[in-house]
Amino acid sequence: MEKSALQKERAAYKPKLPKALQGAVKVVEGAPTQSVDNQEEIKKLFPNTYGMPLVEFVTAENALQKEMNVGVILSGGQAPGGHNVISGLFDEIKKLNPNNRLYGFLMGPSGLVDHKYIEITEELIADYRNTGGFDLIGSGRTKLEKVEQFEKGLEVIRELNIKAVVIIGGDDSNTNACVLAEYYAAKNYGVQVIGCPKTIDGDLKNEQIETSFGFDTATKTYSEVIGNIERDCNSARKYWHFIKLMGRSASHIALECALQTQPNICLISEEIEAKDLTLNDIVEQIASTVAYRASQGNNFGVVLIPEGLIEFIPAIGRLIQELNDLLAAHGQDYKDLDKDAQREYILSHLSEANKATFETLPEGVARQLSLDRDPHGNVQVSLIETEKLISEMVGAKLDQWAKEGKYNGKFSALHHFFGYEGRCAAPSNFDADYCYALGASAAQLIANGKTGYMAIVKNTTAGTEEWKAGGVPITMMMNMEKRNGEMKPVIRKALVDLNGKPFKAFAAQRDQWAKETCYVYPGPIQYWGPASVCDLPTKTLALEQE
Ligand code: FBP
Repeated sequence: MEKSALQKERAAYKPKLPKALQGAVKVVEGAPTQSVDNQEEIKKLFPNTYGMPLVEFVTAENALQKEMNVGVILSGGQAPGGHNVISGLFDEIKKLNPNNRLYGFLMGPSGLVDHKYIEITEELIADYRNTGGFDLIGSGRTKLEKVEQFEKGLEVIRELNIKAVVIIGGDDSNTNACVLAEYYAAKNYGVQVIGCPKTIDGDLKNEQIETSFGFDTATKTYSEVIGNIERDCNSARKYWHFIKLMGRSASHIALECALQTQPNICLISEEIEAKDLTLNDIVEQIASTVAYRASQGNNFGVVLIPEGLIEFIPAIGRLIQELNDLLAAHGQDYKDLDKDAQREYILSHLSEANKATFETLPEGVARQLSLDRDPHGNVQVSLIETEKLISEMVGAKLDQWAKEGKYNGKFSALHHFFGYEGRCAAPSNFDADYCYALGASAAQLIANGKTGYMAIVKNTTAGTEEWKAGGVPITMMMNMEKRNGEMKPVIRKALVDLNGKPFKAFAAQRDQWAKETCYVYPGPIQYWGPASVCDLPTKTLALEQE
């Protein structure tokens, strides 16, 4: 592998560990836990992994010696820091016993089922320490949910004498990790399963998980580029930039980038849903800001749009719900129909209200909603060009207002989508340290006999020495939700809390940002230099932990 100058220097970075993980480690257990909701149902579904206590690692007198081979899987979308979880896990299991081996299953959960793996050695991992990407072992979105898959996985687990599997993933993948942990526990196979909280989307967080890894680096990467666009925009003063930001469902990424860069407008899907706004309401709000700024001679601006917006517009959300149920029940019937016949099929099966919404959508968007789902049943929102849809509708509204004599500005729109470019950036110091500590915690959870737990690291706005590492039972974060037409136990996704401090800080300033030009230019992630820049947490984390 040919390495860039940054890669070479960055390889020497030694991630900082919390004090409790620096030497010998022991576990302190808390009180039994409960799931966040639907306690009776979750307890019934997870009789062997429900109710376990929270655990925290503290410094011990004597180091644990443990023989254990471990398997690791990267699941779902890439997030900066994944390689550091693996290097933290690798170093910690070698600390527990130098003969311990780490196996990486290739291309996501399917690697376990299809017995595709490599051994991760010191020489191999050396090239991947502190790097972005998941290319060490690859990732995938195969859903681990069937008994045949669990049993197939067990064959290779036995062959390699693996004691535990670590699944690094988002809410869906960790839900599956818990189902697998429960299955192996119920069968008394003696195989442990541990999860790690990953996703740039930032929606895998709760009382126990302060943030998912990758959110810090991804939002800093997007904010750098948004800041650069703002400066360009404020220099030429002739374009409106419509920027869609990744984040399948929740608007945490858009909100964080707004707090970092102070654009003229940032839509927050959760607020749009709560206020029951229509697409037309959203368009009118944006057009009003464009018109106001034009009246001040400012025919330019920046609008941030969360990727998941479309699903949160209530009428479209209701349509998606019905489509999900329809696809779950009759997906096979029209799978092989041609494009037009599929549209007809859907129109003839939808309720009147949803049919009306479906008919008003541009064809490309309607097709996206009615067809391709990812393996977890999610609409692939990153493929829908919401930024263009909205800017075109704003343009049309302004034309109408111009005819009515209400507006006489110039509106020239440019479009961007920032998503994939942020998922594999070289991890910030925060993500490099956080991920390394998560990997080390996962190893300690295994060594201490835990299964059905997710590795956690808390107190992350303090210095790394003071971070608190441990584990949370995955069942504690679960509730029952409808998926593909059926009620399923899942980890509750964290959406933007409209009463939370990050949203309130944004809402308190946005009117000023819309009217005036208050752009902030964060610049690129810094890996060396003053801690005030290099170790800066996200605004979201800082406000939430205040
Ligand atoms: P995870 O939840 O698996 O981390 O993935 C997040 C994400 O990056 C979303 O923001 C985005 O909608 C989706 O993945 C894109 O998926 P894909 O990589 O399959 O195109």
